[in-house]
Amino acid sequence: MSTTKEKVLVVGGAGYIGGITCDCLRRDGFDVAVYDTLLYENRFLKDIPFFHGDVRDTEKLKTVAEDFDVVVLMAALVGDPACNINPTLTEEINHQAIKRFCESVTPGKHIIFMSTCSVYGAQEGILNEESPVNPLSSYASTKLVAEDYIRKHSHTIFRLGTVFGLGDEHSRIRMDLVVNLLTMRAVGLGELTIYGGDQWRPIIAVRDIAEYVVEACRDRHNGTFCLLKENVNIRELGEKVSKLVPGTKIKYTEISFQDARNYRVDNSKSMKVFKYRPVVTVEDEVERMIKIFREKRIENPEDKLYNNSAFLRSKSEQNKFI
Ligand SMILES: NC(=O)c1ccc[n+]([C@@H]2O[C@H](COP(=O)([O-])OP(=O)(O)OC[C@H]3O[C@@H](n4cnc5c(N)ncnc54)[C@H](O)[C@@H]3O)[C@@H](O)[C@H]2O)c1
Repeated sequence: MSTTKEKVLVVGGAGYIGGITCDCLRRDGFDVAVYDTLLYENRFLKDIPFFHGDVRDTEKLKTVAEDFDVVVLMAALVGDPACNINPTLTEEINHQAIKRFCESVTPGKHIIFMSTCSVYGAQEGILNEESPVNPLSSYASTKLVAEDYIRKHSHTIFRLGTVFGLGDEHSRIRMDLVVNLLTMRAVGLGELTIYGGDQWRPIIAVRDIAEYVVEACRDRHNGTFCLLKENVNIRELGEKVSKLVPGTKIKYTEISFQDARNYRVDNSKSMKVFKYRPVVTVEDEVERMIKIFREKRIENPEDKLYNNSAFLRSKSEQNKFI
């Protein structure tokens, strides 16, 4: 265990990835604090210093960040459907706010930025950090353009595959991510609908992401890194989940799903530079989630609260979008 007492500010630390990341950082002796606007939550009760704030409030974020050695930027509107609801707001939060922060923050801090493998869009072959990008959504394009501002600082940029599994005990789980969604539907409905199915996606467990962030805070590896455990074909993923939830039927439909993303990614660079290895399998997390669903520990996992776009659409309809 590290004896460092370096101070880490996790911006967006109340979210799905942020929650478990803060726990892992604390476990390893970092002084951790969270800056978050609580977009989905109505409370933050973890025993961690907390700053309620919006990333768009550059002055506040900059002032809070003064006191920290490492800033982990996770706050964002996340996912293509969520970002499509209000592209102007997406641009403000995911791009402009990051730009302003990078231009104003005191030099010398290490900045860790969560980008996405969605920047690759639909492409043949196995892609890596040097491959051409092809962002197909405002989510992917705002994340991609923000990367360039981060590169002006000491930085670790993670291009994450689609994340899966259970995070920490407090934070909201996301059910709008493919492995989690398939597991929820298999347990809840006994049936999965696979749209197309030939699309490829890199995937990685949320627990593994948190460990990569811990290492990046400790060792400050500079550069851009794709993080994934494996590339999966959606059809095979559905079959895997259906075997783990016996009796699940699979319905295949050719109706083209609006999500055109299709890409495979190579993780050689992160395997070379980082000591950490992604260890959590789809089977591990599907089994853990099955238990959570069967024991009804989440009252209604289909609730819009667990789905970024459904939740934000409903907020937007009530004119309560931030
Ligand atoms: N989950 C994935 O599959 C995945 C894949 C690739 C990249 N990422 C990236 O990882 C990061 C975290 O994703 P997540 O899955 O934990 O998302 P999430 O939606 O669960 O969490 C986002 C957090 O950011 C906060 N936030 C949103 N807008 C804010 C604002 N304007 N000011 C302050 N806080 C704000 C929210 O309150 C929330 O706590 C994001 O940057 C995302 O782009 C996630």
